[in-house]
Amino acid sequence: MTTAAETHRDVFGSAPAGVWSAPGRVNLIGEHTDYNGGLALPIALPQRTVAAASTRDDDLLRVHSVAAGETLEVDLGSVGAGSPEGWGAYVAGVLWALREDGFAVRGMDVTVTSEVPLGAGLSSSAALECAVGAAASDLFDLGLLGSDDARGRLARACVRAENEVAGAATGGMDQSAALLCRTGSALLLDCRDGSTEQVPFDLAAAGLVLLVTDTRASHSLNDGQYEARRRACEAAAEELGVGSLREVAPDGLDAALARLSSDELRRRTRHVVTEIARVRSTVEALRAGDLDEVGRLFTASHASLRDDYEVSCAELDAAVEAAEGAGALGARMTGGGFGGSSIALVPEGSAADAEAAVRAAFGARGWTEPACFTVTASGPAARDT
Ligand code: GLA
Repeated sequence: MTTAAETHRDVFGSAPAGVWSAPGRVNLIGEHTDYNGGLALPIALPQRTVAAASTRDDDLLRVHSVAAGETLEVDLGSVGAGSPEGWGAYVAGVLWALREDGFAVRGMDVTVTSEVPLGAGLSSSAALECAVGAAASDLFDLGLLGSDDARGRLARACVRAENEVAGAATGGMDQSAALLCRTGSALLLDCRDGSTEQVPFDLAAAGLVLLVTDTRASHSLNDGQYEARRRACEAAAEELGVGSLREVAPDGLDAALARLSSDELRRRTRHVVTEIARVRSTVEALRAGDLDEVGRLFTASHASLRDDYEVSCAELDAAVEAAEGAGALGARMTGGGFGGSSIALVPEGSAADAEAAVRAAFGARGWTEPACFTVTASGPAARDT
């Protein structure tokens, strides 16, 4: 396979100054909680997006995507809401956001390749932003990879790129995962104060694997559905007189629900409050080595996302049911939903059966063949060469 550095030389005529990469993620649990100031628990994937890059001494960004098979040229002065459109927004947006933050960032030549499946709910866009952000940090000496605090700052710039330039109202979990996750750990992310904790996540020691199913059902975070969920949560918080749904304690949930004006807001709120509680319970169960309980929590999370938050779809439900029927301890959709991927916690010896069951369920319905693979908790954005 041709590397990003080789392609860079072919496209731009000289070797890159360096190569950086950032991982995709799966969220173990804590879905649609980040923009509610809640808790999430992602791991970084072994699959990474790679950016070969060099600086320029003007304000032109030239970026070649191997997946798109095209090279874009963007004047950094022209970047803003909705411009550029498409995948270029995730690259140009990061340089724009860093400049907005007062960093002296100039133009770059960038070549991007990715192993993170695109549009599969595995945060290919955050991986792209964070790989480019890591390259810009090192090439312009911004020091944004040196500590967790600095990485948090880079994550926030990447979120601005996504929110303000790409126009996806996402909450920030994905960028934090790509920059702050560590090998062998899940990242407990508190989206109210930005604090993080590493939670050891070693399934092999428990004889288990995490099976990901990319359903190949279409998934988009800027088609209005994601934003509608976010606005509903804001409306519910406003009716309850709190800054975010994080402020609703589990034991105050029933009283809060009774005060809400619609069944829709009640269901959205119930999901968020119970999901935050499930993240806490999952961390406790992981620390106690109780993987059966983690499985039950996965399954409860899926039911809540399907029934109360209404972000699942037939393909995700089928993948979850099939894995559970074939011996998974628990399974759930992961990421924003409306398509994308599911995860299942499966005894190592049942992994082949679980995969076969998922494939059979899709085949029986005449759906596109899903992609199934196991993943382990991997490392964050870094310089490769
Ligand atoms: C997407 C968004 C995240 C988060 C999840 C749902 O991945 O990018 O910010 O809201 O959906 O948990």
